Amino acid sequence: MPFLKHRRPPESMRRFYNWFCRHYNSMEKTMTPTITGAVDAHVATIPGVSGKTALEYACGTGFLTLQLARLFKTVTARDASTGMLGKARFRAARACLTVDFRDGDLLAIDEADNSADWCFISFALHLFSAADQEKILGRLLAVAREGVIIIDHTRKWEPLTAFVEWLEGSHYDIYVKTDFHAMANRLKVKSFTEISRKTCVVMIFRH
Ligand SMILES: C[S@@+](CC[C@H](N)C(=O)[O-])C[C@H]1O[C@@H](n2cnc3c(N)ncnc32)[C@H](O)[C@@H]1O
Repeated sequence: MPFLKHRRPPESMRRFYNWFCRHYNSMEKTMTPTITGAVDAHVATIPGVSGKTALEYACGTGFLTLQLARLFKTVTARDASTGMLGKARFRAARACLTVDFRDGDLLAIDEADNSADWCFISFALHLFSAADQEKILGRLLAVAREGVIIIDHTRKWEPLTAFVEWLEGSHYDIYVKTDFHAMANRLKVKSFTEISRKTCVVMIFRH
């Protein structure tokens, strides 16, 4: 129903996160085990990971970024919100981890093709329309030499998540229905795996 839909345009989304960054640490209790579990199972197990490079988009306050920095040779992390990036920089410095943090827009990805081994997005793909999701994945697949890993909400519609995502102005209602297998076929990836975990989904698009 249209009145239940609330889509935030990019500039409003950036302003929202510049405000919300002050409260994002309250997510730590739930996010940390979710992301740690996904990383331990599906990222730390990448063969030769310590010699590889990672690029993360929409890094937020760095929940995933710091874990990538402990595994990969180098990590570049980008986000559209300077507030979220500021928190992530602080968190990395406190943990004595080196990350190249930069401003960056998922709707205008400007990395050169084949410039990172793996690309990541955590809890941000659902912010975008199905057409933009496909555009974003297509661009990241061009940047990544090996593949793209998405960590995001479980694909079972949850009322509480739907309410939070309505406030956020995301496309959660579309995201839970998107056929990512079909999208992976259209993007001509060599393999696609969607792993449903208790508190998230992990999608691996591999060349
Ligand atoms: C729900 S938070 C997720 C943050 C982090 N990845 C995590 O797992 O905690 C969504 C993030 O997407 C960022 N974002 C929203 N639109 C973006 C865009 N067009 N380009 C880059 N980042 C964007 C926001 O600033 C915010 O940091």
